[in-house]
Amino acid sequence: MSDIVDKKTKNLALQLLPMQLLSVVIVALLAWFFVPYYVEKSAEEQAALAAEQVARNFLTLRTYYTDNVVNKVLNSDGNLIVDHGHKTIANAIPLPASLIFDMGELLKDSQVQLKFYSPFPFENRKDRQLDAYGQAAWLALTQNPNTPYVQHTKMNGQEVVRLAVADRMTSQVCIDCHNSHPLSPKKDWHLGDVRGVLEISSNISSQVSKGHKLGLYIVIGFVVLIGGMMAMSFRITFVEFDKWSNARKIHERELSDASMKANAASKAKSVFLANMSHELRTPLNAIIGYSEILSKGILGKLNNAKHEEYALDIYNCGNHLLNLINDILDISKIEAKKEELSERIIEVRLMMETSLQRVRPLADQKGITLSIDVPDHLPGLLCDERRVVQVLINLLNNAIKFTNMGGHVDFTSELDGAGRHVVKVSDNGRGIAQEHLSRIIMPFEQIGDAFDSPQEGTGLGLTICKSLMKLHGGDLEISSELGTGTTVTVTFPPERTVPDTTDPGQNPTLA
Ligand code: HEC
Repeated sequence: MSDIVDKKTKNLALQLLPMQLLSVVIVALLAWFFVPYYVEKSAEEQAALAAEQVARNFLTLRTYYTDNVVNKVLNSDGNLIVDHGHKTIANAIPLPASLIFDMGELLKDSQVQLKFYSPFPFENRKDRQLDAYGQAAWLALTQNPNTPYVQHTKMNGQEVVRLAVADRMTSQVCIDCHNSHPLSPKKDWHLGDVRGVLEISSNISSQVSKGHKLGLYIVIGFVVLIGGMMAMSFRITFVEFDKWSNARKIHERELSDASMKANAASKAKSVFLANMSHELRTPLNAIIGYSEILSKGILGKLNNAKHEEYALDIYNCGNHLLNLINDILDISKIEAKKEELSERIIEVRLMMETSLQRVRPLADQKGITLSIDVPDHLPGLLCDERRVVQVLINLLNNAIKFTNMGGHVDFTSELDGAGRHVVKVSDNGRGIAQEHLSRIIMPFEQIGDAFDSPQEGTGLGLTICKSLMKLHGGDLEISSELGTGTTVTVTFPPERTVPDTTDPGQNPTLA
């Protein structure tokens, strides 16, 4: 039982292997692509959030500066001025825009950079070109001033997140100056207009490369883990399988050893029996011969009636013993495969009539009716005639023996649907009980004791008949009902049926 389970486990393990490999590959691919993607996305989000915060802080700072410093300077009649040239002009403070431009300059080399632009530069910046992102950002922010415009791009081989927020004309101060400044490119600004774009770009290259490394580590870890687990489960499975297959090999070897021994023993037995039987027959012939002479008084009558009776008993028992020995010899020969069939094509009807002639005296003695039924144009039968006749006589003898005075025995032959010769011997005798039917063909099994009535045979008859039929490639079957009768059917294989040797004779019923 567990052997079968083990084998199933092994098969299952093998069948699951491609599935397991496939799932490992899928998970590895997922980890390979998904982990870096995920890390990158989260770095992107974080960078954008931080950038927006920075941008808003700058704008707040700038508004504060405009309202509280620039505005005051503009409205005072002191000698301070507000100018983008504040670095060189002694009494100038920075413009609100200069604050941002200058910060951008200062942060030029940091990871977070700051740019400030619009499509309407003042005179001093009129050569400035906006890149694609800058143009798109301007367009997006003028339509949607409250939503930052974000893009993740590669710049100079670096992973950069660019975020732009709108710089709007938040106070009247901005409008007044921009609409009146002599160098202003556009002079119809209104409160709330988007005047420019404040861009914060963050370099997230190191986070992205960390994401790729993380993905790689996860894939390696996963593959090692799953590989180890699979190797372990396969080791277990295969160790179990090896145990199972070794056990099976040992079992097979034992079986074949046993069957070789059994064959050898059987052969030895058959050879021994054949030799023994031969050795026994010589003295037995003397016993039978001399007891016959004594019992029949050939050399002069025995004076004592008891002696005569004993001599007859010796004669009968000797004959029984001789039959037994002959039967044993037959079986031994057949079992030792020494028996060879001398085959020729014979006519079934003739063979059946011959057999019937041989048992007629016994039937007549008991007043038993013998009938034969053979269809016309029956094809020939390729067989060893002597052996088949032996079988048929044996069956007829049995039928007559076990049928009461005045009964009948039917002897029939036909060709069945499969083209096989089928010969049947049926009687209306005492029949055989179901429980005995299977045993009756076994050697030495007999219903009743042979020594009670020696003339009833050795008990080997049916065994020999069956063996002879097997030798012909055919079979012998018995069906019987207690009190109703017995039918013995012998069947020859279809290849033994040879057409066109039929004798279109009569179909006699012999009494
Ligand atoms: C005193 C005048 C003045 C005031 C007040 C002022 N600006 Fe300006 N602004 C300028 C000048 C001059 C420039 C050009 C500076 C430069 O290019 O270096 C400029 C530049 C800008 C720019 C850059 C435009 C570009 O394309 O380069 C923006 C945006 C801007 N200002 C927005 C504002 C806002 C918003 C306010 C109010 C919070 C404001 N400004 C207040 C004078 C002013």
